[in-house]
Amino acid sequence: MNRPAEPLMAQAATQAQMGQARPHESAHLHVAGAAPYTDDLPEPAGTLHAALGLSPLAHGRITAIDLDRLQAQPGVVAVLTALDIPGPNDCGAIVHDDPILAELSRGPDGALDGTVRHVGQPVFAVIARTRESARRAAALAPQVLTITPLPAVLGALDAHAQQQYVVPPMHLVRGDAPAALAQAAQITEGRFSLGGQEQFYLEGQISLAVPQEDGGMQVLCSTQHPSEMQHAVAHALSVAAHRVQVSCRRMGGGFGGKESQSAQFACVAAVAAARLKRPVKLRPDRDDDFMVTGRRHPFEFDWRVAHDDAGRITAAEVNMVSNAGHSADLSAPVMTRALCHVDNAYWLPHLAAHGHCAKTHTQSNTAFRGFGGPQGALAIEMVIDDIARRLGRDALDVRRANFYGTESNNVTPYGQVVRDNQIGPLVAQLAAECAYAERRASIAAFNAASPVLKKGLALTPVKFGIAFNVAHFNQAGALVHVYTDGSVLVNHGGTEMGQGLNTKVAQVVAHTLGIPFERVRCSATDTAKIANTSATAASTGSDLNGKAAEDAARQIRARLAAFVAGRLGGRAEAVRFAEGHATAEGGQTMAWAELVQAAYIARVQLWSDGHYATPGLHWNRDTLQGEPFQYFAYGAACSEVIVDTLTGEHRVLRADLLHDVGTSLNPAIDIGQVEGAYIQGLGWLTMEELWWQPMDGSKNAGRLMTHAPSTYKIPTANDVPAVFNTRLYGQPNAADTIGKSKAVGEPPLLLAFSAFLAIRDAISAAGGHRLNPPLRAPATPEAVLDALQAVGAGQP
Ligand code: MTE
Ligand code: MOS
Repeated sequence: MNRPAEPLMAQAATQAQMGQARPHESAHLHVAGAAPYTDDLPEPAGTLHAALGLSPLAHGRITAIDLDRLQAQPGVVAVLTALDIPGPNDCGAIVHDDPILAELSRGPDGALDGTVRHVGQPVFAVIARTRESARRAAALAPQVLTITPLPAVLGALDAHAQQQYVVPPMHLVRGDAPAALAQAAQITEGRFSLGGQEQFYLEGQISLAVPQEDGGMQVLCSTQHPSEMQHAVAHALSVAAHRVQVSCRRMGGGFGGKESQSAQFACVAAVAAARLKRPVKLRPDRDDDFMVTGRRHPFEFDWRVAHDDAGRITAAEVNMVSNAGHSADLSAPVMTRALCHVDNAYWLPHLAAHGHCAKTHTQSNTAFRGFGGPQGALAIEMVIDDIARRLGRDALDVRRANFYGTESNNVTPYGQVVRDNQIGPLVAQLAAECAYAERRASIAAFNAASPVLKKGLALTPVKFGIAFNVAHFNQAGALVHVYTDGSVLVNHGGTEMGQGLNTKVAQVVAHTLGIPFERVRCSATDTAKIANTSATAASTGSDLNGKAAEDAARQIRARLAAFVAGRLGGRAEAVRFAEGHATAEGGQTMAWAELVQAAYIARVQLWSDGHYATPGLHWNRDTLQGEPFQYFAYGAACSEVIVDTLTGEHRVLRADLLHDVGTSLNPAIDIGQVEGAYIQGLGWLTMEELWWQPMDGSKNAGRLMTHAPSTYKIPTANDVPAVFNTRLYGQPNAADTIGKSKAVGEPPLLLAFSAFLAIRDAISAAGGHRLNPPLRAPATPEAVLDALQAVGAGQP
């Protein structure tokens, strides 16, 4: 059933474009450095450059800004504060609590009064003739800002203790967990601290705003959400949306970080461009990008879980506190997804899960691959790991005992039935292929003979819901043009961030029209071409835009079929489009280019729009009940690690991944997504550590100190496991999706749980498997040494 990535397939017949393992449409440009990103686009004459002046304090009142001093710096053209924004000073995605520049007002006496909410919050923007001049002036922020410090809270649990939240607490409840826990014979309790993660897109945030006639504004922006940027800019400029055009050909990675948080940069560039009537580009460097934008939410968990002697969970109470940062941003939907994934692959008859989005004086946390799903699902995997160790059973057996079934035990806590459940067979296939049981035995033998180096093994499943929880986001539009030479241009509402969406959508269009892939091109995502698009997020890009493009292509095909039937006879429905030809019912054919030319002469419309809305979704966000997902994507991974108990370092020796993408639209791209997601998840859970200076009265108090690759370590090619087997599961999607495929962007990030739990297994081995190692994530050498010490295996 597996479809290996087979490059030769790309040269095979063009008949079935969908399902071919072909390279990314821009691969030849990527490798040659010839794929333009926003900063590579030619700058219009007179372009000015902006830089942001950042708050040096975590919380405080602004009482003065020495604008004259900034204005007097070499090359400076203008300095803008919140007072210069024509519309509301807000770019919040959902809740309107996200200032573009720090909140500021001027009293009747002319005195300034403002608030800063985190170290790194943009307070003002310097616009200068060169980027260098703008940055030099903006760097004077600590000298030109007069700020009275106020108390600041950095940690989620501290804010939780003070009941400071960005949105009201959320509760996902089924049955009566407290009552079931009160009667339970066996109870496992625990807690877990899980760090955040920087998106570390290789291309940073950037916007180039170019004024247009009559108050219009064009914004070239690295964003996953052009329509939201259009609205944010229109609000900031106080103009109608039709005056703002946002365009993005490609991003050098987004990973969720450019879903809402590209808005601040787009708005500052546009406000400056509108005021100065000159193009303005804003491209923060990596350190500023870290200081200004948020990232994956850190979570704190605690739980009480009742289970039987086989480890079957009967009731669970789980508390989650996320660190939302200073504003709501996407924290509420991220928490919703965390709550809706706390079941992962398991039937939890009684559940009380509580989610708190703590408000702190740090960057505002946001979307990151998985969008809370990884955090919620890892909590239950920790629970199962704890139960297994407590009972002295193999964790895989306890997992299997808890899998969703097919009878009454197939309903999620939020009321959606788990149809088409693949988890049992998928896990069985992986366990057999990777020889889980045999390796478990040989690792035990290795550990018995190895006092310092300890090996660990874990096999974990993934079930991930696909669709936006907000039903109306699940729609998309497309525009397909067939030109008279037979070439085809496709526009759709999705954005390309390296994930291969444009390749897949072009494959869908080529497939539908029965023409070679090379005839089809996708161009930049543009709000002037497709209106009211959703973010390219929640892994839904190809599900939504693939269907919308197919709808457009089918309309063109139907018109051409009628034309062919009129020319060559037979029924229009019987005309076939394949291999670059249309074949009439009687068997006569017309070549594609010839057909298109003739149809044009006959005045047939050769372009079409298309639309798609995912069927059957509904969601009640007050009760957290409904049918939020169209289907689930499944997967499983087995990781083997070795831990040095003297240094706390580890290596992943081997990883076996088996992931369900339905019938793959493009196995080469899908395998790349699965491998990349595993490595990105590995980075999150094992090495990427964010560290803020505590509120200790020092000059760096509240400052994120890990704001560059010098101090923030992401995985490299060296961290790829020596043995790395990735396979696609290959069962067609039971839901009616494009080509029976499944979304692939986010779900495989959860495969990295297996590496974290394998490290925990190795630590447990060092302690003789007596205690649950209190291992926090990321499992840095320090965290590993702390956990070793706690299980009595630490070195003095
Ligand atoms: N892959 C690459 N190369 N770059 C990215 O930025 N983002 C991920 C995933 N894969 C990302 C990526 C995230 S967070 C999502 S939601 C999906 O791609 C979005 O694209 P899709 O819906 O088309 O899969
Ligand atoms: Mo992905 S976190 O939904 O952009």
